[in-house]
Amino acid sequence: MGVGDDGAILMAEDTARGTGPIVLLGPPGAGKGTQAKRIVEECGVPQISTGDLLRSHVKNETELGRLAKEFMGRGELVPDQLLYDIVAERLRAPDCERGFILDGFPRTAAQAGWLDAFLEHEFFDRSRPGKCLPFVIRIDVDYNELWLRLTGRRTCPLCGRIYNVHLQPPRVDELCDLDGSQLVTRNDDREEVIRERLLAYEQQTRPVAEYYQQKGRLVSVDGSLPVDQVAEQIFHAIERHARDRC
Ligand code: AP5
Repeated sequence: MGVGDDGAILMAEDTARGTGPIVLLGPPGAGKGTQAKRIVEECGVPQISTGDLLRSHVKNETELGRLAKEFMGRGELVPDQLLYDIVAERLRAPDCERGFILDGFPRTAAQAGWLDAFLEHEFFDRSRPGKCLPFVIRIDVDYNELWLRLTGRRTCPLCGRIYNVHLQPPRVDELCDLDGSQLVTRNDDREEVIRERLLAYEQQTRPVAEYYQQKGRLVSVDGSLPVDQVAEQIFHAIERHARDRC
């Protein structure tokens, strides 16, 4: 175990027990949120969903929320510059020190470049020198399956658990299995908006996978399998990465 000049235990050892930064990449409905919650349960590192952060700004009617709402309502990506401050602020929180799962960020090549630069120049400072740039897991699912997943998605507003009326229905129609809350449909899960979100993925987010592929930091998993089997592939990938990294 290494000790820094100021007596702090070095990050390289810490990350060996944590997961390091993980990015979940994939089209809308691929299961990023579902799988992120599995990793949170298994590894105890936080999920950072830019979609959830933005929705919370919209709900609280902040200036950012007001700006983001229009783009989100149309199924378009929110401009890069609006994301950087909220992501940086969240990553500076102490619970991110041993690793974190980014769900929905980065989703443009510019965001991917920003994230690497932020981690290199700020996140891994002298007290956290165990530099380990994000390991990226892309969840692949075909278009027809994505359509079924997005049109059938329901979420518990209280605990955040995700259901699907076609594929993973709750035990009682429209009620959360865990706390009995009435499930809700996301505002952007309307057909015309889903179409735009899938298009934005093809045009703006696919190049992000190429960016990471070129850097040798991308693995793909088959997201069309049942949730447990997708999770199994993801945990194997994380384990392999933990053995090989840094
Ligand atoms: P965001 O909230 O990130 O939405 P998204 O990327 O469109 O992804 P989803 O949350 O729809 O899907 P998911 O992959 O998490 O799937 P889930 O697990 O829920 O972004 C929303 C908007 O915010 C964007 O459109 C954009 O405007 C803006 N935004 C966010 N981040 C941004 C950024 N970085 N830059 C710019 N703008 C940004 O699963 C979906 C359904 O499938 C569920 O019903 C689930 O139960 C089911 N399911 C999941 N896995 C399986 C499985 N294996 N088998 C069967 N069913 C499954």
